[in-house]
Amino acid sequence: MGAEHSIRRIGVLTGGGDCPGLNAVIRAVVKTGILQHGAEAYGILDGYYGLIRNRMRRLNYEDVSGILTLGGTILGTSNRANPFAYVEPDSGDEPRDVSDRCVENFREAGLDVLFCIGGDGTLSIGHGLALKGIPVVGVPKTIDNDICGTDVTFGFDSAVQIVAEAVDRLHTTAMSHQRAMVIEAMGRYAGWLALVGGMAGGGDIILIPEIPYTIENVCRAIEERRDQGKRFHIVVVAEGVRQPDGEYVVRQRVEDSHDKIRLGGVGVWLAARLEEMTDVESRAVVLGHVQRGGSPTAFDRVLATRLGHEAFMQAAGGNFDIMVGVQGPDIVPVPLETVADEQRLVPPDGDLVRAARAVGTSFGDA
Ligand code: F6P
Repeated sequence: MGAEHSIRRIGVLTGGGDCPGLNAVIRAVVKTGILQHGAEAYGILDGYYGLIRNRMRRLNYEDVSGILTLGGTILGTSNRANPFAYVEPDSGDEPRDVSDRCVENFREAGLDVLFCIGGDGTLSIGHGLALKGIPVVGVPKTIDNDICGTDVTFGFDSAVQIVAEAVDRLHTTAMSHQRAMVIEAMGRYAGWLALVGGMAGGGDIILIPEIPYTIENVCRAIEERRDQGKRFHIVVVAEGVRQPDGEYVVRQRVEDSHDKIRLGGVGVWLAARLEEMTDVESRAVVLGHVQRGGSPTAFDRVLATRLGHEAFMQAAGGNFDIMVGVQGPDIVPVPLETVADEQRLVPPDGDLVRAARAVGTSFGDA
């Protein structure tokens, strides 16, 4: 912990893809600042765009009142504004380093701390700005649950809830029509969302990037179920699962983004293959951004509040270039340089996978 730091004016931004609980963090940081430390708060609009273009707005107590349950982010976000490789939208220019402009805007606004709420891209930019002298405190967010240094990210539980509910609903229609339903979950290159959502919904086959599968094994699992008299099959597949040739199914390429590949579509491919190889009528459901929208669960509201509060307390203690992470029962500071650009994947032999296997879930690997 650094020396006590007087926090009179705070800046807060949300970067990267939105997720449920962002507003709950904004509320917690700003309310802790206003109520407990008499600080003033400024919201930086549209992620790092706001810092680059000096677009900020004052956040009073009333501005953050009533937003605990609200999905999305009242500040707006962006996943293309990187101050270290900035491309003016639609300009066709080469990327430029405009981070000095961010430092100037931060100083001119008289801010004492910058709270960066976001995923690995936002946090790694936050680390870069911290190295240039901005006192940064990060708060990790993502429905993917793949950030190192924290046991869980807010937004994940809300997304799991949506996957589980979708699987529940698809069960009844799969049963009625004797079909295989393939449900594609988000999660980028990590399988947390497909695994936990699939387990919660009682999925029969779960495919995640961390466990290599073969299409033949998936078909075998379906045939075995059919031999046991099961008239339907629920397959949950993570968007980051590769095709047998090792290729990802890509929805879009975005060169000027931290995350250059937008995954999506493996579920449609898989459903077609299964129908072809087993004769079981199959349908694909791509859950997509539904998983990121709407109100956070009670768990995420509380987690986001704890993280926002602790982020402020770390700043008040003079502890910067860190993010706040969940480790066991505690919220602890984690140096940003140790989290940025690394991913936390599902341990293939961990207890989640072992429990799923024990109740008969197939991972397509045997
Ligand atoms: O990182 C969150 C996430 O929702 C991923 O699960 C998904 O792959 C990606 O963002 C989608 O990004 P976009 O909103 O740019 O389509």
